[in-house]
Amino acid sequence: MASLPSNKGKVAIIGSGLIGRCWSVLFSSAGYNVALYDTVASQLSTALTSIEAQLCDMESKGLMRVDGMTAQKALQLVSSFDDLQKAVDSALYVQECTPENVDLKKKVFASLDSFVTSDKTILASSTSCLVPSKFTESLTHRKQCIVAHPVSIMMSFKPFDEFFPFQNVTANLSLCVHPLNKDVSQAIIGTIFQSLLQKMVGWVAFVINPPYYVPLVEIVPAPWTDSDVVDRTVALMKEIGQAPVVTKKEVNGFIFNRLQYAIIMEAWRLVEDGVCSPEDVETTITEGLGLRYSLIGPFETMQLNANGIRDYCERYGANIKHVCEEQGGPRSLSGETLDKLEKELNQTMPLEQLNERRSLRDKRLAALAIHRQHEDKENES
Ligand SMILES: NC(=O)c1ccc[n+]([C@@H]2O[C@H](COP(=O)([O-])OP(=O)(O)OC[C@H]3O[C@@H](n4cnc5c(N)ncnc54)[C@H](O)[C@@H]3O)[C@@H](O)[C@H]2O)c1
Repeated sequence: MASLPSNKGKVAIIGSGLIGRCWSVLFSSAGYNVALYDTVASQLSTALTSIEAQLCDMESKGLMRVDGMTAQKALQLVSSFDDLQKAVDSALYVQECTPENVDLKKKVFASLDSFVTSDKTILASSTSCLVPSKFTESLTHRKQCIVAHPVSIMMSFKPFDEFFPFQNVTANLSLCVHPLNKDVSQAIIGTIFQSLLQKMVGWVAFVINPPYYVPLVEIVPAPWTDSDVVDRTVALMKEIGQAPVVTKKEVNGFIFNRLQYAIIMEAWRLVEDGVCSPEDVETTITEGLGLRYSLIGPFETMQLNANGIRDYCERYGANIKHVCEEQGGPRSLSGETLDKLEKELNQTMPLEQLNERRSLRDKRLAALAIHRQHEDKENES
């Protein structure tokens, strides 16, 4: 971690929904001034509450991005704007986080193009599925455009605090519970309120799996993006504690989903062809492949599981090709197999208990992120 910066510069976040909030947390916790813009005023005000809660969560878990940074210091770096031009004025980096709609992205990027004055400002989109050439081709500053897709695994539910401003309530009640320690009493009351109200309104969920638990960011340049823009985006992502990967050309699904879809498709084929139960697919991943892949990827596995990758390919290559040929093409994710999977999954994970399962998943993911951070620090020293 670097030491607390005094003036790192300004980043503009366009759209203050789930992802805009996460980016605001990441950049402010790394010491950047964040200008948060949205067309909906109420979104901006709830965003600030949510950003504060996420920063406090990060701080409590020791996951702030620079030494000496606190949730309150980071929060002071975030300002909200209802004027796009002012928000992007003198920004070194702009992260667009508006809804996933190509026509909207075209409009937003056209506005950004007209307001940006420096040839150095990077114009990045958070889009999950759209390659950048789909919405940047006609822009004057198209060489500065890129996709920076955070692989946070979030739900599209609204954050709970948008429905109930528990922080305001707990802030007032807290002084009655523990007059000398506002933070402690607020935390106690907050927990009680949250669990009670979550039970009452079970379908409302918190922002989950923020990108500081899953740090991967996919960087996707358009054919016309400057290589310097790619390099600077990668450097910036690393600096704020994320793990960037870069596609060398535009490709649907980027990298993460292409790999994920290959696994989903083979899992489907194994069940559809009667090879094993859905439960055994899950166990194979959670008790086997997933454990390995949280530490090393497929190429390191090949290098380590023989005397180097060449030896691995010579030993196992023909068999791997043979098995892959047997796997065949994609299946449609519907029909009887879907009926069977739905029935089994709804028995083991009833829909009304999904929020509990999500909480457990997030708790474990947070614990894993903390463990990895400690391990990295120990390995560094
Ligand atoms: N939610 C996820 O899990 C996830 C993960 C990775 C990437 N993404 C991508 O991030 C982007 C944003 O997703 P989200 O989940 O945060 O959406 P969201 O619906 O939670 O938030 C979108 C925000 O954009 C605002 N907005 C709408 N039009 C605008 C405009 N013209 N200018 C400024 N703000 C505007 C809305 O008011 C809203 O606050 C999408 O492209 C999405 O694909 C989402």
